[in-house]
Amino acid sequence: MKKNQIIDILESGQVGAEITVKGWVRTRRGSKNVSFIALNDGSTINNLQVVADAENFGEEILKHINTGAAIAATGKLVESTGSGQSVELQAGKIEIIGKADPDKYPIQPKRHSLEFLREVAHLRPRTATYSAIFRIRHKLIFAIHNFFNERGFYNIHTPIVTSSDAEGAGEMFRVTTLPMNDLPKTEEGQIDYSEDFFGKSTNLTVSGQLEGELFAMAMSRIYTFGPTFRAENSNTSRHLAEFWMIEPEVAFFDLNDNMDLAEEFLQYLIRYALDNCMDDLQFLSKRLQEEEKNKPADQRSMELIEKLRFVADNEFVRLTYTEAIDILKNSKQNKKGKFQYPIKGFGTDLQSEHERYLVEKKFQKPLILTDYPKEIKAFYMRMNDDNKTVAAMDVLFPQIGEIIGGSQREERLDVLESRMEEMNIPADEMQWYLDTRRFGGCQHAGFGLGFERLVLFVTGMGNIRDVIPFPRTPKNCEF
Ligand code: 4AD
Ligand code: MG
Repeated sequence: MKKNQIIDILESGQVGAEITVKGWVRTRRGSKNVSFIALNDGSTINNLQVVADAENFGEEILKHINTGAAIAATGKLVESTGSGQSVELQAGKIEIIGKADPDKYPIQPKRHSLEFLREVAHLRPRTATYSAIFRIRHKLIFAIHNFFNERGFYNIHTPIVTSSDAEGAGEMFRVTTLPMNDLPKTEEGQIDYSEDFFGKSTNLTVSGQLEGELFAMAMSRIYTFGPTFRAENSNTSRHLAEFWMIEPEVAFFDLNDNMDLAEEFLQYLIRYALDNCMDDLQFLSKRLQEEEKNKPADQRSMELIEKLRFVADNEFVRLTYTEAIDILKNSKQNKKGKFQYPIKGFGTDLQSEHERYLVEKKFQKPLILTDYPKEIKAFYMRMNDDNKTVAAMDVLFPQIGEIIGGSQREERLDVLESRMEEMNIPADEMQWYLDTRRFGGCQHAGFGLGFERLVLFVTGMGNIRDVIPFPRTPKNCEF
């Protein structure tokens, strides 16, 4: 393919070259005699300035060069006299490919709120902010595959429609072809799923982990990267009903190996963004500073690039849940009753206010919390010798809270079976899972990274709805 995108043109800076560029008009300004068109094709945050002398173009052409219009400009690349760009295009010919009526096109060159842009999510990638976010999102996807490929992991596509509830949390979207207004019933009056498409009750996956484990028990190092679905009614800036998750699973790994992998992985991804997305990061850093300029100084975030460097270069703090509870319980915050959910002691589930206190106030570094009480974690996590805690780990990030959740897995068949019974997980439907404990079972561990939470952190955005192309949240499924 010919390298004729704006990113290539600006990089090559070939003064004198005769070229044609196509893109969308960001702005047009100028005088009666000359127009300066900022043209962008989404390949980079930077616009190419197209200079159009009025004497070469009639009003018939110029009047259609409005924000949002698609045009093709042909001419000579010349050195730019304006600041901030090395070259500009002296247009000899301009073709209007697609008009954008300025009275109707919703995205005008002014400051739009992110809330408004969510309503026009089909057009928001035309803005500088969103195209920067989605270029970074792409680079991170690429980096994830790179990271695992370089380390001998195989990517496994786990199913999207399943009959299991991997997390045992029951927050699933049902998949069915049964007629909603005329459901077949069994003799006992229950819905008769034997008449459903798959002959049983099915749902969208909440996690690829269980199927991932089957492959780790055969190919040693695997990872999944797919969409996951949660019907939890959490209307927060950190939750989506449809999100993407990366789940590595490794045979012969224990919890420490798992923590090392998680830390290396996150630091690699952040460094990759710093090395490959600097233009976009600089833009987003300015955007964030602009957004926060009216906040009191102590409530502003750390400058974006500095924050990313800090996390990439500093070891994460590791501590057990029990240690964390002690710190929280004895904190001024808790003693003064400033937590909405007071810390009573061992067994309290950590809320985001507690996680943020630990990460942002106490340690000011990413944190890996381990060994949670068994009651607040999933059935598959390995029981510790104290019989109270499990070999779980959560990675907590500033501003984000939990970015990774994982564990060493229970590989002992008898222990796993009794945990499943305690937690009402139907063992008869999960014999396939238990088989990996029956035949060649071994120690293994893995984790899940919420992809959008990573993108949120790297871009410095505040709401998860702004880092996925078309967010799905309670009462919202547009586009
Ligand atoms: O902690 P979770 O529920 O863990 C699992 O699903 C395990 N099966 C992972 C594993 O061990 N293989 O989810 C993992 C991560 C969370 O840490 C969070 O980053 C993200 O997925 N996540 C969400 N992201 C956006 N919206 C939601 N509703 C999310 N729920 C979890
Ligand atoms: Mg979790």
